[in-house]
Amino acid sequence: MRIVVLVSGTGSNLQAVIDAVRAGELDVELAAVGADRPGTYGVERSAAAGIPTFVVDFKAYPDRAAWNAALTEAVAGYRPDVVVSSGFMRIVSADFIDAFGGKYLNTHPALLPAFPGAHGVRDALAYGVKVTGCTVHWADAGVDTGPIIAQEAVSVDDGDTEETLHERIKTVERRLLVSTLKSLAAGAKSPN
Ligand code: GAR
Repeated sequence: MRIVVLVSGTGSNLQAVIDAVRAGELDVELAAVGADRPGTYGVERSAAAGIPTFVVDFKAYPDRAAWNAALTEAVAGYRPDVVVSSGFMRIVSADFIDAFGGKYLNTHPALLPAFPGAHGVRDALAYGVKVTGCTVHWADAGVDTGPIIAQEAVSVDDGDTEETLHERIKTVERRLLVSTLKSLAAGAKSPN
């Protein structure tokens, strides 16, 4: 199973995927890592790991449609079976998702459909929930919407900040992303 991973930031979830592949625990081919802006640590660490990288800079295009078309072309060049949004903070169009047969996987640091968007951890804290978590799902063209594949709960502790809570969620999220990819890769290999 060939995957392309899209990032906007540090890519610590991506690093968990890279580590699992290197350790021989995850049988996927990391075809490329792409970002929506230059200078992300996610791309930097991928390049250091010898993975092909690309940037389709959102700000370099006149509008979202032009950026989306360029992103589709760039990703398609790597012929992925699955595209993974791992901290990719841009909404892609339905055309993008269709180009990859709907195989667009997203991770989110909340128990969807609660607290979608760019600030899932902050919003959960502000609401005062005592349990939040993370979600891995097939993404559609909405904001963190689409069929849920896996979720896991994480308790909110007294005194948690956005940073401490997000880090605890990410520990679970990394494991959930890797195990989801493992299941998908196993399915991709099965004879039926
Ligand atoms: C992750 O927690 C991911 O779920 C979140 O960004 C973080 C990226 O961390 N994505 C969203 O909030 C999408 N709505 P990372 O760059 O260290 O992997």
